[in-house]
Amino acid sequence: MKEMGHQFVLVLDFGGQYNQLIARRVRECSVYCEVKPYTTPLREIKAMDPIGIIFTGGPNSVYLEDSPQVDPEIFRLGIPILGICYGCQLMAHHLGGQVTEAQEDSAREYGKTKTYFDTECKLFRGLPEEGFSWMSHGDYMAKVPEGFSLTAHSAACPNVAIADESRGFYGVQFHPEVNHTENGTKMLRNFLYEVCGAVGDWTMEDYCKTAVRELREKIGAGKVLLALSGGVDSSVAAALLAEAIGKQLTCVFVDHGLMRKNEGDEVEAAFSKWDFSFVRVDAEERFLQKLKGVSEPEHKRKIIGEEFIRVFEEEAKKIGAVEYLAQGTIYPDVIESGFGDAATIKSHHNVGGLPDAVDFKEIVEPLRLLFKDEVRELGRELGLPEYLVMRQPFPGPGLAIRIIGDITKEKADTLREADAIFREEIAAADWDKQINQYFAVLTNMRSVGVMGDGRTYDYTLALRGVTTTDFMTADWARIPYDLLDKISVRIVNEVQGINRVVYDITSKPPATVEWE
Ligand code: XMP
Repeated sequence: MKEMGHQFVLVLDFGGQYNQLIARRVRECSVYCEVKPYTTPLREIKAMDPIGIIFTGGPNSVYLEDSPQVDPEIFRLGIPILGICYGCQLMAHHLGGQVTEAQEDSAREYGKTKTYFDTECKLFRGLPEEGFSWMSHGDYMAKVPEGFSLTAHSAACPNVAIADESRGFYGVQFHPEVNHTENGTKMLRNFLYEVCGAVGDWTMEDYCKTAVRELREKIGAGKVLLALSGGVDSSVAAALLAEAIGKQLTCVFVDHGLMRKNEGDEVEAAFSKWDFSFVRVDAEERFLQKLKGVSEPEHKRKIIGEEFIRVFEEEAKKIGAVEYLAQGTIYPDVIESGFGDAATIKSHHNVGGLPDAVDFKEIVEPLRLLFKDEVRELGRELGLPEYLVMRQPFPGPGLAIRIIGDITKEKADTLREADAIFREEIAAADWDKQINQYFAVLTNMRSVGVMGDGRTYDYTLALRGVTTTDFMTADWARIPYDLLDKISVRIVNEVQGINRVVYDITSKPPATVEWE
């Protein structure tokens, strides 16, 4: 629904992977926006009264018969349009240009590409004349539509960007929304402010107010059960729901026995004094029993997801007449669990792992469209303390996906001790602000070592530390050798069962942050 009183930008979704990222970048520029399917009827689009429209990328080829199309009337609404990748080709195709499959490999472009910009064009105004942009296209514009001029090129492709400034139509073959495109957000900002006349009237305070109002409308007098893990996402969801519905909320913290050292007690201490009911369920035995002998990562995730829901259902029955189950699912969880057309990477337990039949009227996920740093900002807006807002993420399945192979209580205890040492030393060295997520993984590999005068045959522990802004991509953290050394020495000396420590130096992609 269009937010009354605010300027609005419409992102028309053609099935690309980065579509919510476009929306997020627009919000970052203080402009309200929503993503809608490309099938949205023209009359609805008109009624939304957008100041600009962005066509997203998508996996199809515009010249194929069943490829997603738009009502050509959209080009006669007098509203500026920015087409990205497929969206650019679609615009060219509709307005008399020609798009073909790149015959030569050199015309196909994937990855970071040196690009040259015409800075007279409003889209690139005030930006450097050259820079890297992120390409991902197999088709290319053989003929540019009439009225358009070329505004950017690369070595392989003369038609990287096009513009018809008189109509406010812009198209780029690359993805300005991803971090790999230098100045990409500035290009989007230029489109919004230079072309669409944005004034920047959208803030997190507005987002918060809207979310609170929508939650009140949706939930009415109903009772809500929230899965609270103590992580940033569920804590912010709790604060938002507390603001919206107060005492109608019950937060249930399921201690599945796969939390980090002392975490259960810390969560209880942090939340038991809030103005909603807080319930701690000790379910360690039950989870370990279900997970016994299971080593396949997706299977572990599904078991944990399912068991979580069962525990909630039982708690809900005790409270009685609970209609809604709330969860702190955020956008990267949604997209990586195979939402829409994107491929499934992992089924994050709070999305893909849900059983089909859930004993609640509805699931409420108020953070579903937000990225991690937006969630943190929302948390601050709601008055959460900084230590909670800046907590590093911890996955719902917990240590289960950091113990490679089958899970036992002994392994979980071993990992907990090693992980606690790692975190303690990182914080003591003041590296905790620079690394966005860091943890230990108990590999399933044992190797020979020597301790005192004796032979050992114990587990190898892997340390993982990453820097990232959105957790969709991540780089391994350059932790100083001396610090790694200190951590390694402490772990092999203090934790029984570990005789070797390695550090993971893989970025995402191709690896993921977690090992499973
Ligand atoms: P991956 O391993 O997918 O992790 O690169 C990206 C971020 O998501 C966290 N993660 C999860 N969070 N439920 C969650 O709530 C899950 O099932 C889950 N799996 C991964 C991970 O810790 C990292 O921050």
